[in-house]
Amino acid sequence: MNTQPNTQYKPKILLARAIFPQALAKLEETFEVRSNQADRVLSPEELQKELSEVVGALVTGSECIDAKALAHAKDLKVVANISVGYNNFDVPAMTAAGVMATNTPDVLTDTTADFGFALLMATARRITESEHWVRNGHWDKWSIVNNPLGMDLHHSTIGIIGMGRIGQGIAKRALGFGMKVIYHNRSRLSEADEKACHAQYVSKEELLRSADHVILVLPYTAENHHTIGVKEIALMKPTATLVNIARGGIVDDLALAQALKENKIFAAGLDVFEGEPVVNPELLKLSNVVIAPHIASATEKTRRAMVDLAVENLRAALAGKKPPSLINAEAFKT
Ligand code: DGY
Repeated sequence: MNTQPNTQYKPKILLARAIFPQALAKLEETFEVRSNQADRVLSPEELQKELSEVVGALVTGSECIDAKALAHAKDLKVVANISVGYNNFDVPAMTAAGVMATNTPDVLTDTTADFGFALLMATARRITESEHWVRNGHWDKWSIVNNPLGMDLHHSTIGIIGMGRIGQGIAKRALGFGMKVIYHNRSRLSEADEKACHAQYVSKEELLRSADHVILVLPYTAENHHTIGVKEIALMKPTATLVNIARGGIVDDLALAQALKENKIFAAGLDVFEGEPVVNPELLKLSNVVIAPHIASATEKTRRAMVDLAVENLRAALAGKKPPSLINAEAFKT
């Protein structure tokens, strides 16, 4: 039996939010972990202080990693996002500070595409509104016309804005419903990828005019701020639905609430919000909007896979190896 005290040096890392206990225990075998199993969102001041004391950090989209957060992070080498979207990162600031930035692509693609489709179906077929209607005692008979009537998905046209991995996953699911797939993206897909999704590239305006269901799956950037606002909603069919599983800020939530109130479009399904977790109160008043708390990637299997990939990125970076999903290659020094 080895009775020597364990004097093995353990690098210090920050785990900004709660993770699965087994994953934390595994991390603690090699690192001194400043953990936060209470899952409280750190203030910018707390985050800055924590980052000044560690060589690596695991964070989520709720932690903003900008020049201010990095101001005293003299030993920090890597920040691994447990998220595919990384609009919480100021990548140029991280690169300037010599900090590697990583995210978790691929492992959540199918789970997120499944959810996009679920939200679309709930929205078009008024599922949550119907449930409230029943719970509130309004269901007194089967009726041809006086039950909540929805919009069909099958053989309709789906318009996907943002045709990355998740957008393509949604397109493939739509084919099973016999839907026509049109898309708009910053850059057009290769011929082979368009063929695999049976997807037709169109301008944003044409998509908004002709889609029966519009789904947003694009990353949030300054350029994509309010991709959907008053002007864009005005182009949509009054029978159309709008689903946002991308990021808050891509839709002008107030303009959307106004349009839904005036029945300018049929309904909306929202998993993400401007200023979340606060939801615009105007949206909360409406029955033709399905609301979810940013859960598109939320299955236990996928959340475990996201944590595992983020840890793999962090471990690689701290071992001097290139992390598998490195965002800023310039920050990697061999
Ligand atoms: C992602 O991975 O980007 C999800 O939206 C969770 O933030």
